[in-house]
Amino acid sequence: MAAMTSSARPLLNRRLAEFGTTIFAEMSALAARTGAINLGQGFPDTDGPEEVREAAVRALRDGRGNQYPPGPGVPELRTAIADHQRRRYGLALDPDREVLVTAGATEAIAAALLALVEPGDEVIALEPYYDSYAACIAMAGGTRVPVTLRPRTEGGERRFVLDLDELRAAVTPRTRLILLNTPHNPTGTVLTRAELTAVAELACERDLLVVTDEVYEHLVFDGEHVPLATLEGMRERTLTIGSAGKTFSFTGWKVGWATGAPELVAAVRSAKQFLTYVASGPFQYAVAEALRLPDAFTDGMRDDLRAKRDLLSEGLAAAGFAVYRPAGTYFVTTDIRPLGAELSHGGDGFAFCRALPERCGVVAIPNAVFYDHRDAGAPFVRFAFCKRESVLEEAVSRLKALAG
Ligand SMILES: Cc1ncc(COP(=O)(O)O)c(C=O)c1O
Repeated sequence: MAAMTSSARPLLNRRLAEFGTTIFAEMSALAARTGAINLGQGFPDTDGPEEVREAAVRALRDGRGNQYPPGPGVPELRTAIADHQRRRYGLALDPDREVLVTAGATEAIAAALLALVEPGDEVIALEPYYDSYAACIAMAGGTRVPVTLRPRTEGGERRFVLDLDELRAAVTPRTRLILLNTPHNPTGTVLTRAELTAVAELACERDLLVVTDEVYEHLVFDGEHVPLATLEGMRERTLTIGSAGKTFSFTGWKVGWATGAPELVAAVRSAKQFLTYVASGPFQYAVAEALRLPDAFTDGMRDDLRAKRDLLSEGLAAAGFAVYRPAGTYFVTTDIRPLGAELSHGGDGFAFCRALPERCGVVAIPNAVFYDHRDAGAPFVRFAFCKRESVLEEAVSRLKALAG
């Protein structure tokens, strides 16, 4: 220990220095200490379908996946993923060369960035971004180039919008790839076909790779999810990331995947084999079965979640927040400024979230943590609605106390 403490050099390497502890740890600790309802982190408080859970139990009992599964994932799951992409989106994939199973989408993101990015490369990411993006770009030695989604009101509805001119202007000769996320966490924006077509045109014109995180593909409440890989010219240059955690409400199982052209998937596999190598053996078999369930299952989960979105969104509006009603995901973003200067701490989401548990017994996350341009995110606060209706109702009634 003496050697560690006497060293002038910090233990955490400088690439990761800015990522000390996450806001989720701080806010969850605050929730535990105050007994507040935790609408901070995005995991459901009920498990997914019983038959999927039973499928995992069966696999475990039958001894399927209890030892190291194959590196790319068990064939049953890779085939089920390929069939899912064909059935839902008309995308034909070779399960042996174009599908890679990972330890959640998190590992797919890490492996993709470690495989595809070299020091000095620029990676464009939509800001606010899911927190692992920044850390993984840093671990790969890349430079992140945020393109900020802008808050707009269109036809009476608030939405965070991708400014295509800003995206175009962010591309430089050093740009290696665009890291896209739709449906988007934390804003709930679902990029439209027109927006995605413009992204595709730009990627083709500038010969860029795109890694697209589509883990909320089945949680779209308004509009449609358009997989980027289905657009003209994108099949060869897109790596698509999915996850069973969000689709089937088993976030603890950590079964994710990356799909794309054989060369892209081979590159990502090279990095992935030295991260976890393999994970989630029996759960892979269960997810293979889950992906073969009739669409009614995912439709049902989506409809259930839509009702929860509405419950929380309406409650937040009644409590005085300006609500960006999400078209997809688990999250609703709000602007706290309409609550007034005092309650909103002058529009400071950090101060607001730190005070909220004591003030009314609810935990939320300040969106500023997902921004490089902290000022652009300062007044926005994210609430998760993937919770039981009774929990959301209680949260809404507590939040109403804010309105006085
Ligand atoms: C946008 C996004 N990508 C990836 C993940 C991680 O997915 P997984 O749990 O499959 O690793 C999350 C989880 O919240 C997410 O919101």
